[in-house]
Amino acid sequence: ALIVRHRMQSSGKWAKAMAILDDFEDKCATPIGKLRQVADAMTVEMHAGLASEGGSKLKMLISYVDNLPTGDEDGLFYALDLGGTNFRVLRVLLGGKDKHVIKQEFDEVSIPPHLMVGNSAGLFDFIAEALKKFVATEGEGLHPFAGRQRELGFTFSFPVKQSSIASGSLIKWTKGFSIEDAVGEDVVGELTKAMERVGVDLRVAALVNDTIGTLAGGRYNNPDVVAAVILGTGTNAAYVERAQAIPKWHGVLPKSGEMVINMEWGNFRSSHLPLTEYDHELDLESLNPGEQIFEKIISGMYLGDIVRRVLLKMAEEAEFFGDTVPPKLRIPFILRTPDMSAMHQDTSSDLKVVGSKLKDILEIPNTSLKTRKIIVKLCDIVAVRGARLSAAGILGILKKLGRDVTREGDSEKQKSVVALDGGLFEHYTKFSKSMESTLKELLGEEVSEHIVIEQSNDGSGIGAALLAASHSQYLEEC
Ligand code: GLC
Repeated sequence: ALIVRHRMQSSGKWAKAMAILDDFEDKCATPIGKLRQVADAMTVEMHAGLASEGGSKLKMLISYVDNLPTGDEDGLFYALDLGGTNFRVLRVLLGGKDKHVIKQEFDEVSIPPHLMVGNSAGLFDFIAEALKKFVATEGEGLHPFAGRQRELGFTFSFPVKQSSIASGSLIKWTKGFSIEDAVGEDVVGELTKAMERVGVDLRVAALVNDTIGTLAGGRYNNPDVVAAVILGTGTNAAYVERAQAIPKWHGVLPKSGEMVINMEWGNFRSSHLPLTEYDHELDLESLNPGEQIFEKIISGMYLGDIVRRVLLKMAEEAEFFGDTVPPKLRIPFILRTPDMSAMHQDTSSDLKVVGSKLKDILEIPNTSLKTRKIIVKLCDIVAVRGARLSAAGILGILKKLGRDVTREGDSEKQKSVVALDGGLFEHYTKFSKSMESTLKELLGEEVSEHIVIEQSNDGSGIGAALLAASHSQYLEEC
């Protein structure tokens, strides 16, 4: 009788856990019809954001980039890429039309977590010190414009209201940064003051979002690039808009007739998004409740934590890990997306990667194969939802550009290339594959042939250096 009761209890436990998982799966569903609604809503919000300041959750920020790199850029330039837990400093020697990038060097520095939530001077002084060290390694004779001030492209991957190509104020922080006294300030001013304090002489020639840097870097290599998407710690997109189609732009129309727009799509929100109780809780407990909802169900900062939250519920309500709840499971962000990805992509027959991640990170030893399989399934639900929604976002942009259909007279070879960057896309293969196949599914076979997703590794740093080059104060003299 004891055995029977035990079996019943244990089958009851599985049934309960599966019920939680099934319910979660239902609520995460992204059938093609829903994705089309999301894409349409994205297009509608793009129009609204372009129409007027504050017209939409999509800020559709004007980048002041009205010319993308041509290949003629020439000279030695620096770049600073700030937007995640690490920042990078780069030095790029550009050789003009024939030679392109002759040489590039970089250094990567991780940001001490307390500086991400401290004060502006603390963060920028730390960065300026790193720049100073890096500039000091510049070889003799490498600086082709000796005696001139060195110039820097600053990739700052947060929402900024620009007032020119090289100035702009921070609208808000995202992705786990929270430095109150920097909000509303000109970030170029903050960096420049810090560089003066530590004694390094660099002029910021261009301030760009990482999406804009990626677009610029992508265009440098491929003239068909029309948009850039970041799938990393955060998520966002930029694209080339007709200046005439930006009612809120009251400046002079650029000669090119074009303007690059930083959408800040991470802040997109729509009643069509499949949101669950876990997403609501994650949002409420985040540093920026109510904001960046699209980002919170797609990007690398959050996916692992969504998995953790569902597991916690299964542990609490269905004794999924036995009769006690593993204490580590209660720690926010303890399960990172790279760990989730490793579990999800475990190909061993006994799912030993899943087993060892559970043991090492969550201190849950000796999990059964059945338990591990359920966890893989959970990772799949979370990753696929994010991947499919990001494909819907891309479709929204293509619709805005009128490139989601083939028109009569379209030349056979006319391609639309979307440059993709970010660790989530680069390292989480099941995510990127799902995103790409969903986009194909949405576009249909014929149109798909004209749309290319091109991975651009660290295009954003080079892109910023290229934009610094095309906005150099010495341009006329060259
Ligand atoms: C966040 C930032 C955005 C950036 C994106 C990717 O969404 O707000 O500016 O482009 O992350 O790094």
